[in-house]
Amino acid sequence: MSQAIRVVILAAGLGTRMKSRRAKVLHEAGGDTILNHVLRAALNVTRPEDITVIVGYQADEVRDSVKTAGIRFAEQHEQKGTGHALLCARGVIDTEKGLLLILNGDGPLLKPQTLRKLIGEQEQNDRAATIVTTVVPDPTGYGRILRDESGMVSAIVEQKAASPDQLTIQEINPGLYCFDAETFWAHVDEIRPNNAANEYYLTDMIEILRRHGLAVAPLLVADETELLGINTRIELAVANKLLRARKAEELMLSGVTIENPESVAIDMAVEVGPDTIIQANVQLRGRTRVGAECRIGAGSVIRDCDIADGVTILPYVVAEASTVGKKASIGPFARLRPDAHADESSHIGNFVELKKTYLGKGSKANHLAYLGDSEIGSGVNIGAGTITCNYDGAKKHPTKIGDQVFVGSNSTLVAPITIGDGAYIAAGSVITKQVEQDSLAIGRAYQVDKPSWARRRREQIKKSS
Ligand code: UD1
Ligand code: CA
Repeated sequence: MSQAIRVVILAAGLGTRMKSRRAKVLHEAGGDTILNHVLRAALNVTRPEDITVIVGYQADEVRDSVKTAGIRFAEQHEQKGTGHALLCARGVIDTEKGLLLILNGDGPLLKPQTLRKLIGEQEQNDRAATIVTTVVPDPTGYGRILRDESGMVSAIVEQKAASPDQLTIQEINPGLYCFDAETFWAHVDEIRPNNAANEYYLTDMIEILRRHGLAVAPLLVADETELLGINTRIELAVANKLLRARKAEELMLSGVTIENPESVAIDMAVEVGPDTIIQANVQLRGRTRVGAECRIGAGSVIRDCDIADGVTILPYVVAEASTVGKKASIGPFARLRPDAHADESSHIGNFVELKKTYLGKGSKANHLAYLGDSEIGSGVNIGAGTITCNYDGAKKHPTKIGDQVFVGSNSTLVAPITIGDGAYIAAGSVITKQVEQDSLAIGRAYQVDKPSWARRRREQIKKSS
């Protein structure tokens, strides 16, 4: 692209129809805020420094929600309309030559290709502006596109100002405009709040440019679902569904099997390798990366995890900010809390919880265990019901278990504690002292047997009743 491209994203409004205390652009669909989706599309056509977001309602929260560094912000203290928003941005945007791309901040489904096409059209034809239009079955609420005999856009009429005839027009303004920057800034002051709402409408720019004999061309986009503007939570749910479907399709086309695509929720930044199988109702959130040839069991919720190749996640695993090594097996019903690391070929079974714990290569914790603040070597067997007592009510303490250790079932390991390589912990032990390499530690009362006691008791009970 030859000309400088400056992008303005309008995100100052509250979004009254959301019936929310939160600014509209902060609501989430497809695993990210509405605004971040719009930004992602914009970042495909220009540098972060050339993007200005207009903030107003909950300005600080909106600023903080933006994940990309270098984006500029302009403040619109009072929301007096989309045209007024641009007036507020004048000091922040470089207003020289080039293209000025203005995007409503509430259209999260926008595709980068469409922006590129819009820019391409404007560059090629060199008009005052090119604006995206689309035809929708129900145009209620949108600005309607008026065209002249030659097919150029002569005006946008807002719903409230439209005549009964104009209300039947199904070609609408989705809120994506590409202006010649010099022309735009030369005429922006001509926008007047001459409407019932007393607002400065950006859409009035079309008529203004026409009055000066300048042409505004339409770019009619066929897929109207891409241009959906979110005004209500019903539209938010529609956008969420479409974004989820888009991500699932992208993964399936890249070689991932998704058994029930409409049931999964996979965030935009998630990566999944080929020949991985994703079962129903799986959620892969945040920055999760799943390798090739894995299986992600039904109902698992995985956030910000790194999962290597060939891993089996059985159903209903909840994992966050953890890593899983090659060919490991996790679940069903396991929980990896932040900083859990299950190394290559390790096994974590049902009702096992790991937190800030490293489980070495080939080690197993197959049933009912809590392993916290622990470092566990390779080839270790953690018996059912093992608990690391890492918390004394005030502080957390570490547990260190060497290689090839056998921890018998129902062991209680009171941290801080170290268990040497090859040691053996008898089942049911409470271990409070360091266990040396290769030794057997038994920390429990010895068994006492009283022959015939049970039979005598039964006879006694029978006599007394
Ligand atoms: C706007 C258009 C309408 C179009 C529709 C597409 C105008 C006058 N109308 O109407 O033609 O069909 O979008 O969705 O532009 N905003 C600000 N400051 C303000 C007001 C709004 O930054 O003072 C932002 C909002 O945060 C939002 C965007 O501009 O992201 C659009 O505002 P909204 O109130 O949703 O406009 P619509 O009434 O839908
Ligand atoms: Ca809108």
